[in-house]
Amino acid sequence: MSIITKLAIAASLATALSTAAFAQDLSGKVVGFSQIGSESGWRAAETSVTKQQAEERGVDLKFADAQQKQENQIKAIRGFIAQGVDAILVAPVVATGWDDVLKEAKDAEIPVVLLDRGVDAPEDLYLTSVASDQVEEGRVAGNWLVGDVGTEPCNIVELQGTVGSTPAINRKKGFEEAIAGHDNLKITQSQTGDFTRSKGKEVMEAFIKATNNGADICAVYAHNDDMAVGAIQAIKDAGLKPGTDIKVVSIDGVPDIFTAIAAGEANATVELTPNMAGPAFDALAKFWADGTEPEKFIITESKLYTSADDPQGEYDRRKGLGY
Ligand code: AHR
Repeated sequence: MSIITKLAIAASLATALSTAAFAQDLSGKVVGFSQIGSESGWRAAETSVTKQQAEERGVDLKFADAQQKQENQIKAIRGFIAQGVDAILVAPVVATGWDDVLKEAKDAEIPVVLLDRGVDAPEDLYLTSVASDQVEEGRVAGNWLVGDVGTEPCNIVELQGTVGSTPAINRKKGFEEAIAGHDNLKITQSQTGDFTRSKGKEVMEAFIKATNNGADICAVYAHNDDMAVGAIQAIKDAGLKPGTDIKVVSIDGVPDIFTAIAAGEANATVELTPNMAGPAFDALAKFWADGTEPEKFIITESKLYTSADDPQGEYDRRKGLGY
């Protein structure tokens, strides 16, 4: 990568992601990063931003792609422990099944930071978790739909994320909370699309076929933008207008959804920053400096974007970030 490209990425990161004004020098630190895979545009951006944030601080980042498999993540973490890394970052694919490996890291005195997803394990087994409030993300999406639909009846189809992952569990919960008490809004079909574009399209096609070629669907709520983009294609293939015949609301804020919003083919997205690593490295820096324990949960912002929020400008601000 040329120095000019690197500077451009660093500059856009600084403005678009509000990185810390001063990234501490962590030269000499070795950090293992067990990433889930590359199921979505958001995930790709998180991977590149994490590498960039490590490079800015002089961290030697050992990267392991788990190809969506928890067993690969556990193997990678055990490998990092055997290498004696200074810390481990992990984006846990599902919530359960982490206790043993997290205990092994604790016994080896290696701090673990969870990125973007949570675990169902005792809190003393990890240093901190940097993630959004995923229930709130679901609420923000649901509240938008409640406001947009008003008193009209609205049958909603839901594309869930990976089964057993905290964003799938929590985004469902938050959305259901938001529409509860609004009897005109109902989730009529709900299935996993595994956070991928191709499965989002496939499942949406099945939803459309099952409901009078989509005539009975008022809105699709997708737990991420990639599934929404797949659903948009399925809606178009069925001869319907996404964004008009079927409203589209999702979560992430990837460049492609801003293109769709600008074209009137999607209606709303809730942003999830891909910069989980910046706050994670900052927390580790303080911990290494004088033992300061960070907050157990470092919560990132969940901001709603619609066509009123300059979707083309939002696309431009994100396009160089590795999505
Ligand atoms: O854990 C965050 C979720 O994982 C993102 O919303 C989704 O795109 C990704 O696959």
